[in-house]
Amino acid sequence: MDSIRILTTGGASASRVVTNDMLSETLDTSDAWIFPRTGIHERRICADGETEVSLATKAAEEALQKAESRYGITKDEIGCIITATMSGDYATPSTACLVQKALQLPEEIPVFDVNAACTGFVCALTVARGLLAASDRRYGLVIGAEQLSKLLNWQDRSTCILFGDGAGAAVIEKIPENSGAFGCFLAARGGTQIQAEGPGQIPAGAVMDGRAVFRFAVEVIPKAMDKALAAAGITLDDVDHIVCHQANARIIGHVAKKSGQRPDKFFMDIEHFGNTSAASIPIALHDMDEQGLLRDGQTLLLVGFGGGLTYGSILLPFGRG
Ligand code: ACO
Repeated sequence: MDSIRILTTGGASASRVVTNDMLSETLDTSDAWIFPRTGIHERRICADGETEVSLATKAAEEALQKAESRYGITKDEIGCIITATMSGDYATPSTACLVQKALQLPEEIPVFDVNAACTGFVCALTVARGLLAASDRRYGLVIGAEQLSKLLNWQDRSTCILFGDGAGAAVIEKIPENSGAFGCFLAARGGTQIQAEGPGQIPAGAVMDGRAVFRFAVEVIPKAMDKALAAAGITLDDVDHIVCHQANARIIGHVAKKSGQRPDKFFMDIEHFGNTSAASIPIALHDMDEQGLLRDGQTLLLVGFGGGLTYGSILLPFGRG
């Protein structure tokens, strides 16, 4: 089956910066408690008028603009639009359809959302790969977007301090099998250790067994990495960047240490964005691109884990190297 590579990224930060110190004005918490346990100093929260769809649209527009300016790819050439989210503005229409409308993207292509919580972006890329492989179109738009602030109980200090709002997007390109390292792996355990009610439901908010989630994450991240590496037939030494779901700096730090790789191979930006679930990997990719860390021909290993308990990985090239 054909593989895919990521060509461009886009990102949209929610406008309100909420620091740990700001949270401590209304909650019995502090930067001294939050930062050492999570790596988070601040998160971005939607201001009035900003929504999950507006962030998704902005991120997608930037990725598409870069695709046009760097590669001459036009919007008419997009062959699928997949959004990973668990906090869309509506049960229907999907965020992907609303982005399609806002950006006047083609009609006769697959357009839908996937919900695999924090593994969502990895799932969406895998789904988009399959759709493009079965299509005569070459490019796809894959988005991760969340407005988690509307799902949280802002009185619950054990959960609300962890999460943020945001969106990231990528334009991907179908490439022939064996024309670049590629591997993917998806799994789920049917677990309820992380649960969030929909907006307006009682009791509102997210509940999580934090310690169980920590144990789950440090078990499945190395497994997911190994599965994608084995599918691609390469080793971790051949990978340029490992981008894990930004759930917690201690989880990523733990995995990085056990991997024996340079710690800076594991990108982290959770300090400024908090945990943005399905948006965290594409936001990180966009952040890396903005910082000049991504170069054509590099190999990326993306790893998701979260509610469900879902987990998975995708190993793919960046740019036309
Ligand atoms: N500020 C101050 N005190 C707090 C806060 C807070 N924000 N939150 C909890 N506490 C208190 C608790 O009330 C408790 O007090 P007590 O001992 O008097 O009862 C104490 O701190 C310890 O609470 P725990 O929940 O046991 O805290 P823990 O040390 O496990 O740390 C954390 C919580 C950071 C979430 C940790 O479990 C962890 O790192 N889990 C990994 C999972 C994770 O990061 N999930 C992110 C979302 S899920 C995902 O994306 C896949």
